[in-house]
Amino acid sequence: MKLNREVQTLISRFDSLLSGAIEAHFSDIERTNASNRAIDIVKEGMNYSLLAGGKRIRPMILLEMATAYGAELKTALEFAIAIEMIHTYSLIHDDLPSMDNDDLRRGKPTNHVVFGEDMAILSGDALLNLASELMINASISLDSPEKGLRAMYEILQASGSKGMILGQVADIKYHEGVIDREALDFINANKTGKLLKAAVLAGAILGRADDAELFKLKSIGEAIGLLFQLVDDILDVVGDESKIGKRTQIDLQNEKCTYPALLGLEQTRAYVSELEQSILMEIDKLSCQSDFLRSLVLFLSRRDY
Ligand code: IPE
Ligand code: IPE
Ligand code: MG
Ligand code: MG
Ligand code: MG
Repeated sequence: MKLNREVQTLISRFDSLLSGAIEAHFSDIERTNASNRAIDIVKEGMNYSLLAGGKRIRPMILLEMATAYGAELKTALEFAIAIEMIHTYSLIHDDLPSMDNDDLRRGKPTNHVVFGEDMAILSGDALLNLASELMINASISLDSPEKGLRAMYEILQASGSKGMILGQVADIKYHEGVIDREALDFINANKTGKLLKAAVLAGAILGRADDAELFKLKSIGEAIGLLFQLVDDILDVVGDESKIGKRTQIDLQNEKCTYPALLGLEQTRAYVSELEQSILMEIDKLSCQSDFLRSLVLFLSRRDY
């Protein structure tokens, strides 16, 4: 992917930036015989999934959009860390036995397999809360906190019960027979698409994108999100576990309604190509430097991990 040099550097150091954020967070809590063990346990659970790797797509998008629209990178970085924490919490919970019941994530045993379900739920919750704290802190240190708050609102709405959580509810509760393409698009757009869209918008909001530009970015972000999940569903069928770092055939096992299940692989791939081309056309209409977005779309539609 064609990353801006500053973003490239931040992403290559992203693991240490994430662990630094966790360290800083716990640095002012009183360490006593009573608190020590609990702090270490929750910290370990949070770090375990956060630092297990991952493509870091959401922070990458957020930072690139922030750069493209002239935002201060220091603030954008706090938001990039926060969005990765929210994404990671959603993965920890998505893998729970009561959800997808997965035992492999980012090439490692899932959080609940290592620490137990109780701790996995709490570590996920902790990452979600910390993400909000980081975004609030970054916002109140701005000259005009409003921008930060608007970006934060975008991210929290996207991950909340009108976004990712709603999509997860539909993903779990809608079953074969009652599902059609419209319902599938709804699931994909919400469980995955909204947070990716928020990464696009939050970066641009922190910068100087005007309403007309944000309107275009909104539809590009939505389409990118949909494309991302379609390929995720394809990789569940044909992916290589050692490359994607998670089990394949899980959707089938869980009788999930996915595009490959409804339409077959060929038609799903055709839909991906169609989306890829239409997003590229939309990107041409933007006023910012769009090399990154173009390369992102090509990566997302053709990826094998
Ligand atoms: C996987 O997301 C979960 C979905 C939303 C489909 P990613 O494919 O971005 O996972 P990581 O962050 O690279 O592990
Ligand atoms: C998960 O979708 C989406 C969220 C975590 C919100 P999937 O269940 O398809 O993700 P994977 O395939 O387990 O990564
Ligand atoms: Mg799932
Ligand atoms: Mg899953
Ligand atoms: Mg999947």
